[in-house]
Amino acid sequence: MKRHISKELLQAERLAKQMESEELVTPLRLLLVLIISVVLVTAVSFSAANKSDYLLSASDETINLTSVPYIYDYTKAEKTREENMEFYNHPLDQWSIEKRSGLSLDEFWDIYDGKWPVIITDVVDKWPAINWTKRFFQQNYADEKVMVKAVVNSKPAAVAVDMDTFISELDSSGPNGWTYLEDELFIVTRPELKKDIGPN
Ligand SMILES: *[C@@H]1O[C@H](CO)[C@@H](O)[C@H](O)[C@H]1NC(C)=O
Ligand SMILES: *[C@@H]1O[C@H](CO)[C@@H](O)[C@H](O)[C@H]1NC(C)=O
Repeated sequence: MKRHISKELLQAERLAKQMESEELVTPLRLLLVLIISVVLVTAVSFSAANKSDYLLSASDETINLTSVPYIYDYTKAEKTREENMEFYNHPLDQWSIEKRSGLSLDEFWDIYDGKWPVIITDVVDKWPAINWTKRFFQQNYADEKVMVKAVVNSKPAAVAVDMDTFISELDSSGPNGWTYLEDELFIVTRPELKKDIGPN
């Protein structure tokens, strides 16, 4: 018996076949994805293994500074400095540490950064805590106790003393004895000081 298929049915059948071939998860695609995954995983683990190999063997390539001494070319550095100082219209002084203010970033990079010592006097001049001098603490906190770490006759000690006592001892340190303040709560428990150093 001849199968009688209407035109519409044929069309639907064709459409279904087409959709089947366009299905996302076909066995072939699944295989392809599997192969790619395996290749990727192998590649990643291979490169990781290689990296650790490199790390392990890095010690072989460590530069031995004793056999290859670091040489600072002072004459060259001095010449560069001369040129830079002239460029920035700044008098050349080879024998003192300069005190500078209003230094531009470019000038700092060119003349000082890793090249020459400098004291920059106006980095924090707008920071309220710039006013925290010995006098300031003596005037405002003389009788308050602070935690002080001390080395007395080369032996460590920790004591609580008046701020005034701590400050008066500051200048009398020596190789066998000195004091330093280590009071983590002093500032945080005093809002008027805390606001001077800012939120961080
Ligand atoms: C570095 O080199 C010096 C001089 O060649 C040598 O004496 C020294 O053993 C080396 N150090 C290392 C850690 O290889
Ligand atoms: C430091 O104290 C002086 C004198 O009281 C004041 O004029 C100045 O503004 C203070 N500086 C800062 C950064 O708060």
